[in-house]
Amino acid sequence: MTAADATTPRVKVDDERLEQLVNGVIADAGGALALPLALIGDRLGLFGALADHGPATATELAQVSGTATRYVQEWLLAMASAGYVEHLGGEPESENPTTARYQMTPEQAEIFINLDSPHYLVGMFQNMTAATRMIDRLTEAFRTGEGIGWHEHHNDLFEGTERFFRPAYTGQLIQAWIPAVPGLAERLHDGGHAADIGCGLGTSTRIMADAFPKTRWLGLDYHQPSIERARQRVAAAGGPDNLEFVVGAAGDLTGRFDLVAFFDCLHDMPDPLGALRAARVALADDGVVMLVEPMSWDSVSEVFNPLGRVLTGASLLVCLPSGLSAPPAAGLGNQTGPARTSQLARDAGFGSAEVVVSGPTNLVYALRR
Ligand SMILES: C[S@@+](CC[C@H](N)C(=O)[O-])C[C@H]1O[C@@H](n2cnc3c(N)ncnc32)[C@H](O)[C@@H]1O
Repeated sequence: MTAADATTPRVKVDDERLEQLVNGVIADAGGALALPLALIGDRLGLFGALADHGPATATELAQVSGTATRYVQEWLLAMASAGYVEHLGGEPESENPTTARYQMTPEQAEIFINLDSPHYLVGMFQNMTAATRMIDRLTEAFRTGEGIGWHEHHNDLFEGTERFFRPAYTGQLIQAWIPAVPGLAERLHDGGHAADIGCGLGTSTRIMADAFPKTRWLGLDYHQPSIERARQRVAAAGGPDNLEFVVGAAGDLTGRFDLVAFFDCLHDMPDPLGALRAARVALADDGVVMLVEPMSWDSVSEVFNPLGRVLTGASLLVCLPSGLSAPPAAGLGNQTGPARTSQLARDAGFGSAEVVVSGPTNLVYALRR
């Protein structure tokens, strides 16, 4: 029997609560459609062109961006409905879709154009649109319990994740996270050896290598295309030259490191315990593991907030299947919570696991032997 065949029992409903829920679902449907449509605008440079040439009509925007007017006209209507671009009201011609003018406000530019803004969110549009491409596989995975590897996703997941996390790394990594671990900045400043595990496209590795030029940096990730991209980016930028990117699994880490860092990746690994054990073995005396994880909470009701909503969705679409994709299939998901994360570190043999930065979007742990 399918859901459609089921007969709905007549029960008394609270009309106000029902209307609220219906309105919420309609708003969600609009948001779900706005994400991929905004991504099309990003791919075609429509937001940037509108910022440079606005207020503009669809015809003008299509002309400067080399796109087709009819599509752009509909896109502007959809984006203005979402609040992602601004419609210039007032004149009669501005109510006609063919002659209406639109522009980008400074706030919209922060979110859609300004790569360096802490509020730049296009990466999120890109990686979440990529993640939803997996729903057929994921539906089947619910039946079989099997995982879906990180590497099996669309390329937009890798690029979008880098773009999504970059503002946090450029704004907080050197300024707040490393200084929160006593003695770490000094040690890296004097010169040491450090590893960035699950480094993806290597943005965090490059930021740290730039900030601490006397330290030698290793970026390690099991995903070959990401490591190749990381190398290409360094080559294109002409440095820094105090780093290397290597393809490899976290559990296979060898060497001696003053710092072993995990940025937003431990919970994606099928064997997080093995990864932490390998990091502990590779730590130099008084070395530290810096573990950065997405914000998470220990109790269920704490998760029910706007950020928790995004994170639990991302966990189900990407992180949990990734953590189930190979033995021992730990399947942490991104909502491990500080208590269980600290316990995992102790299980891996660490003597201390302390949260040194909490919020707004991440938890930063310092683990010591
Ligand atoms: C959410 S991404 C984070 C990437 C990067 N740290 C960042 O912040 O942009 C998770 C990363 O973990 C990597 N990963 C997953 N399992 C791994 C493993 N067993 N060993 C090494 N890397 C792994 C993936 O390839 C991916 O690049």
